[in-house]
Amino acid sequence: MFRLGAALLRPVARGALARRVPSFAIVPRMAVRNAASPAMAMVGGAVKVAAAPAAGTASKAVGYWLMGCGGMVASMIVIGGATRITRSGLAMVDWRPQGGLPPISDAEWEEEFAKYQDFPEYKRGTGAKNIEEFKPIYYLEWGHRMWGRLIGVVFAVPGLYFAARGRIPRHIQPRLVGLFGLGGLQGLVGWWMVKSGLDEALLEEHAHEFSTKETRVSPYRLAAHLGTAFVTYAGLVWTGLEMLEARAAPAVAGAAATLSREAVAHLGAVRRAGLVASSLVGVTVLSGAFVAGNDAGLAYNSWPEMGYDMQGENVYVPEGMMAMEPAWRNLFENTATVQFDHRNLAYATTAAVLTLAAVARRDPALWATLPQSARTALYAALGMTGVQVSLGIGTLLSYVPEGLAIAHQGGSVALFTICLTLMQSLSSARRAQAGAALKHAGSVKAALKAAAV
Ligand code: HEM
Repeated sequence: MFRLGAALLRPVARGALARRVPSFAIVPRMAVRNAASPAMAMVGGAVKVAAAPAAGTASKAVGYWLMGCGGMVASMIVIGGATRITRSGLAMVDWRPQGGLPPISDAEWEEEFAKYQDFPEYKRGTGAKNIEEFKPIYYLEWGHRMWGRLIGVVFAVPGLYFAARGRIPRHIQPRLVGLFGLGGLQGLVGWWMVKSGLDEALLEEHAHEFSTKETRVSPYRLAAHLGTAFVTYAGLVWTGLEMLEARAAPAVAGAAATLSREAVAHLGAVRRAGLVASSLVGVTVLSGAFVAGNDAGLAYNSWPEMGYDMQGENVYVPEGMMAMEPAWRNLFENTATVQFDHRNLAYATTAAVLTLAAVARRDPALWATLPQSARTALYAALGMTGVQVSLGIGTLLSYVPEGLAIAHQGGSVALFTICLTLMQSLSSARRAQAGAALKHAGSVKAALKAAAV
């Protein structure tokens, strides 16, 4: 109970509703023993919760800047998908952190192509065979890398400006530093991934993983690269929305103050169902990286069945799913298993989104108490899940054409964004409710009672 109180108070003390909380509400010490907010101070056996600076300094410009950076990362994920699907990722065989211009003169192109010829993709005859084929894949990989550097600049320069003007609330400053670090890490992980496709010894060692003759990067490193991209994206969008929500906080808080016990319980249930659905979207995205990384979309191109058995009968569970030793490797390297997992995770995601809608819409009166942005996001989640699953099936049935595969990758970003919006909206309503309850009750105990948490 008291832990719940601490969990409730932490965002309240730090967050958008802080200015609606009385400046110094006395709260039992235990209730906040885990809450390390700069807005709290120990006084005797009690903790004083001061209004955090967040809401006061919350800036719309900061919110838009973070959302803009998020938009750039989203486009980067799509460009990354295009780079992979067009087999452009191994065109640049070295890496300079600061980047540079692409080759311009014929001599520079010759030089760059000569370097490429020393690496497995060319030697095995699976990549560009001449300069004319080499140029487009080089440009795409170069653009992918330079776009990443530009994101770093667009994040750092306005970030420093906002920091110098004191417009970044204290509690999000460490988060932004972490996000900048994640951006740098993304570049390093990208190069680590590319190196796995440039190393003949590594390719030989992992040859058994590959069902096609293409020269490819390690599926593990591809998944790490995609995973860190989604984490960075989530951090930017979540924080950006938090800043923008902070501007609307007083209105939300006003509405939240009038919530009944049933409405508060309903909000909690919808939030939990949303968390399950959003987590499943995240796991399905990661499993998609293994489908892509193993070229598993080029096998079992039937739906809903997955190929045939020895008697020529359609099957839902293909043979050889546990053929690899040790068993765990099947999850990440076995074509049949990774595709089977991806399909079933997608079905589980669909079921979770439908359940979320059922929980949220169970009672029309309670549905109406959810924030408008959450209701819109919920409808969007339903629609986008349908679109994403259809894109996945289409990609599979048509043997992974570039356009559909890129649209499927983009669809995963869209669905993930909708989940973030939904969760931020529900979290903001919960913070508002907690703040309103605390304002009216004056203490955590009374607030918990009033909020029926
Ligand atoms: C919630 C639903 C889904 C999500 C979030 C999702 C997400 C993803 C992601 C992120 C990738 C990696 C793309 C890349 O790295 O280029 C991927 C690949 C793939 N997915 Fe899905 N997916 C979903 C549903 C499905 C379904 C239902 C199918 C088919 C039955 C499917 C088939 C594929 C295939 C074939 C690939 C490999 C494409 C390639 O090689 O470029 N997906 N998915």
